[in-house]
Amino acid sequence: MGSLKGRSLLEPGDFTAEERTMLFDLADRITEEPGRVSAAAASKILASLFFEPSTRTRLSFETAMLRLGGQVVGFSEAASSSAVKGESIADTVRTVGCYSDITVIRHPKEGSCRVAAQNSDVPVVNAGDGGHHHPTQTLTDLLTIRREKGRLDHLKIGLCGDLKFGRTVHSLVKAMSVYEGIEFFLISPEELTVPSYVIRDIERGRGCGYTETRNMGAAIGALDVLYMTRVQRERFFNEEDYIRLKDSYILDAEKMRGAGRDMIVMHPLPRVNEIAAEVDADPRAVYFKQAKNGMYVRMALILALLGLEEEPWK
Ligand code: NCD
Repeated sequence: MGSLKGRSLLEPGDFTAEERTMLFDLADRITEEPGRVSAAAASKILASLFFEPSTRTRLSFETAMLRLGGQVVGFSEAASSSAVKGESIADTVRTVGCYSDITVIRHPKEGSCRVAAQNSDVPVVNAGDGGHHHPTQTLTDLLTIRREKGRLDHLKIGLCGDLKFGRTVHSLVKAMSVYEGIEFFLISPEELTVPSYVIRDIERGRGCGYTETRNMGAAIGALDVLYMTRVQRERFFNEEDYIRLKDSYILDAEKMRGAGRDMIVMHPLPRVNEIAAEVDADPRAVYFKQAKNGMYVRMALILALLGLEEEPWK
């Protein structure tokens, strides 16, 4: 397995299953012994460039770097960057790479992070590019599934909600397709089905299958994992369509009665209406644990991209 030092992470396929396993093992070690890594990235600087709103992704990256003893610079809205003056992403990233050791970018345009990486001398991490990919959410999701289910293969995974614009879904499907025996249940309204490139990822996978359905209630009993998503309001062309579709699926205590005892409910968050608050108390609801796992896996990722993953354990 090659080192991840100096690499960028733009979409889930950039890392092999073995490289991901290395990151998850590292995340587990960090969770057990956080004190070991508290100065591991001392003197390193992470640039956090968020051209779109974020709570978890930005703050988990920033706290991850701070918990490694590193420093953080950046902005949390495009309005406070030179983007408003018309600067290109390529120029912004080339400049920021002069100041930092690693750059994390969220941007509304699909493909923008790839352009950024082509113009950067330091590793670039895609923290979400429009409706395309969100590979660090996927590391978070896979670590959560591994921790909760004890495996990443032979699973029945329901993905429910906005499968068209939901980048976390696109990345999760791509990443899971490399494990054996995965069966996806794609649960969405007709207008919000997964793009064809996501179906191709499934078809190219290691014997994965999929079923497209409109009916969550009919699928839920078969699932090991139910991954809920919000309808992505900001990617709709008109508000009427959003209003019509936004409450297509609402997971509540009644629906949870139809699910297996060991099924877990995941959500990348933020949630709007798609999971009733009453579900939070159900031990099968793991979405806040998932958010915490995101910080640990980002700590592991930062260490690996900076080539610092061995030092703390010597
Ligand atoms: C997701 C995103 O930004 O794509 N949020 C996150 O990063 N945890 C999901 C969403 O916004 O719906």
